[in-house]
Amino acid sequence: MATQFDLIVLGGGPAGYVCAIRAAQLGLATAVIEKEKLGGVCVNIGCIPTKALLHSAYIAHLLKNAADFGIQTTGVKTDYGVAMQRSRKVADQNSRGVDFLMKKHKITVIKGAGVLQPGRKVKVGGDVYEAKKAVVIATGSRVKGIPQIGLELNKTTVISSDEALLLDRTPASLAVIGAGAVGMEFADIFNAFGVTVTLIEALPRILPLEDADASTELAKSYKKRGITVIAGAQVTKATVAKDKVMLDVEAGGAKQQVETAAVLMAAGRAVNVENIGLKECGVQLTDRGFVKVDQNLQTTAAGYYAIGDVAGPPMLAHKGSREGVVLAERLAGRKPHPIRYDNVPSVTYCHPEVASIGLTEERCKEQKLDYVAGKFPFSANGRARGTGETEGFVKIVRDKKYGEILGAHIVGAHASEIIHELAVARENEYTVEEIDLAIHAHPTMSEAVAEAALDSLGRVLNM
Ligand code: NAI
Repeated sequence: MATQFDLIVLGGGPAGYVCAIRAAQLGLATAVIEKEKLGGVCVNIGCIPTKALLHSAYIAHLLKNAADFGIQTTGVKTDYGVAMQRSRKVADQNSRGVDFLMKKHKITVIKGAGVLQPGRKVKVGGDVYEAKKAVVIATGSRVKGIPQIGLELNKTTVISSDEALLLDRTPASLAVIGAGAVGMEFADIFNAFGVTVTLIEALPRILPLEDADASTELAKSYKKRGITVIAGAQVTKATVAKDKVMLDVEAGGAKQQVETAAVLMAAGRAVNVENIGLKECGVQLTDRGFVKVDQNLQTTAAGYYAIGDVAGPPMLAHKGSREGVVLAERLAGRKPHPIRYDNVPSVTYCHPEVASIGLTEERCKEQKLDYVAGKFPFSANGRARGTGETEGFVKIVRDKKYGEILGAHIVGAHASEIIHELAVARENEYTVEEIDLAIHAHPTMSEAVAEAALDSLGRVLNM
């Protein structure tokens, strides 16, 4: 095996493997070092298997309400173990797909844990590999507990998404700590599989980074489905027993105890920066523990770059992949379109889905922007009525004078797909008038986008 490459990428997740593919496409001799399966967290224990389980959850929910659609179902039973096995197959298929892509692009895959060395070198076991151009750090992130309050991950009663994705059966009850993307998605899944779910969020509302209207809509929807939401809550103490956990929770000045069979920690992730030789190579970290990078994704050590979760928020697969592409192009001497970090879509795949891009209304207020918000509910959309998916809305916040789209927020079925119309619009600086000029097919959920644009202009048609 060769020991010299143009580019060596440490980590084969969506940032690293995509960077390697683009580099190889541009003629750079490239190697990827990966200690586990190719595809990283996203493919193996993150985005992909979670979406498979969320689809099982969706089917369970649909069947419970099938009678409304003229379909009688009797004896509908859920089996988490079967859904889990299916999700593993999907994840494995995707990981094998990455293996195939590496072969297709003649990228060398080195199995093992890499440690950076000075001089653009990486040691794997007893072998040392050298990069002529660059070493790319794409080591990603991992789950974490909160040992400070007694919630250390123990893989049985205090679990993370890693374990939740591999359970054969559901626990009788589950407290989910944190109502960001991970917490929202797993609360949705376990509720659909019949588990009593309590969702506990420290900040005043669930999905705290989303527009307040989105949080309100989801809180309403989760309540309807029997998920207990406790927001603005502090877990002051956790008593972990063999088969249950007792949580002391304070919210709104009141104290309560939540007894649960298991706790799922979803209060953020830790980045993988330990034991990979960063210090030895002069690669510094930020105050928040990410690898410090400049606008070219170069670390504080020349010839060492970082992309993906390890290089800072948002910790999203698509942000990491885009960094990988842009970095590969720069290293190959191209001048790629710069990454607009204010234009990375955010999606939570719970039901109803939540998707957004750009500024929330609160942020517009904080920044004292002169804006107008337009909103269109799916309850007034013909397609949504047809499928019975009338929860949610499209909200567009536009600049008052020029009509520029400052932010867009979608709650509803297929929000994760619909958001891209707004992503294209924002990347190309289209206005709300231009959104409306594009003819939207009828009947579609996307018509709500055009209607929200029109609403922001004071001329909504179907409401
Ligand atoms: P997160 O940072 O998005 O959300 C964690 C939530 O936990 C926050 O709302 C925070 O206020 C809350 N929290 C923190 N400490 C708490 C405490 N002691 N008690 C109660 N609540 C507490 O992190 P999350 O959801 O774990 O996800 C990790 C990363 O992975 C994020 O960057 C996320 O965007 C990404 N991810 C993305 C997905 C997607 O795009 N659909 C799916 C899953 C994860």
